[in-house]
Amino acid sequence: MDVCDRLIVGKSEPIVKTKELIRQVANSDLNVIICGESGVGKELVAQALHLSSIRRDRPFIKVNCAAIPGELLESELFGYEKGAFTGADRSKQGKFEVAHKGTMLLDEIGDMPMFLQSKMLQVLQDLQFSRLGGKKDVQVDCWIMAATNQELEQSIREGRFREDLYYRLNIIRIFIPPLRERTDDIQPLINHFSEEFAETSYNARFDFAGEAMEFLHEYSWPGNVRELKNVVGRLMLLGDWDTLKQELMGRDARKIDSRQLGAQPGAPFADDQELGEQRKFPPLKEVKKKAVQEAEGKLISAVLQETGWNRKKAAKILQISYKALLYKIKELGLDKNK
Ligand SMILES: Nc1ncnc2c1ncn2[C@@H]1O[C@H](COP(=O)(O)OP(=O)(O)OP(=O)(O)O)[C@@H](O)[C@H]1O
Ligand SMILES: [Mg+2]
Repeated sequence: MDVCDRLIVGKSEPIVKTKELIRQVANSDLNVIICGESGVGKELVAQALHLSSIRRDRPFIKVNCAAIPGELLESELFGYEKGAFTGADRSKQGKFEVAHKGTMLLDEIGDMPMFLQSKMLQVLQDLQFSRLGGKKDVQVDCWIMAATNQELEQSIREGRFREDLYYRLNIIRIFIPPLRERTDDIQPLINHFSEEFAETSYNARFDFAGEAMEFLHEYSWPGNVRELKNVVGRLMLLGDWDTLKQELMGRDARKIDSRQLGAQPGAPFADDQELGEQRKFPPLKEVKKKAVQEAEGKLISAVLQETGWNRKKAAKILQISYKALLYKIKELGLDKNK
């Protein structure tokens, strides 16, 4: 078991392939761009790359380009000399210098302001730059990685991202699909996180077998692995499955609603060619679920009408338990058009 297997859990084809790719490029120093929706594991993949390389004992530095405003980001990355700007009362190393001999992850690169994108393009040529207000050239040796949950091709078309910078970064491209497209990973991830929580939190336990596992397998995971990890933690500590299930169904429904309206919540990432197709065709699972819900809704409504909303009688006719019927009525929102 190597560092990739230890860090990255999952047996789906895209995950197995990603791990292979990490091993192949680990000592290449080629620029890497890691793409995928929020919470799919982009940072984890960057760490796995770093830890699989000969740089593993050197620093792994992450700078979030979305969290820091433009000018501040520039000084954060490249450092500054004393007097470079008001308040610079001493000189400071930038993150590139700190990452020397190690790895630099430019997180949320899609949010980097244009003026810095131009500067980055130059810096990526030879990894030489000077601190703000400085005259000396600084030379660093670091492995450059970038991550994004945006569709950079789209940002380029909209003039928000430099195409030349994109090509410079895009030497090795790792795309991590959303969790709902690699459901084979759900069970191993649940097992992994529940073991992890059981080790760290005294008394944490939850039985994931049966109904819960089935539901979690079908759920769309808009927040991907991060959401799954939180769900597992909450269930193990609080065990409030019924409440949580309602919440998750709410999240699921909202996602489907906004898709129907043509909106793209949280800018889900897709490959360029795939994008058009995805907008045109909803995933089969969603269609199946909606069709079943529609059919169930019609039948249950008819029976409820027939029985004058006598739920006990209706459950008998439908041959489901009373509790199951109450749940269905709530799930399908039938009580609202009573
Ligand atoms: N395959 C995996 N195996 C084990 N843990 C995972 C896996 N994928 C993601 N995680 C865990 O899920 C959480 C979210 O992952 P990470 O921070 O790498 O996502 P991200 O893609 O960088 O998200 P964001 O776009 O929001 O920054 C982390 O705690 C990470 O360790
Ligand atoms: Mg991240």
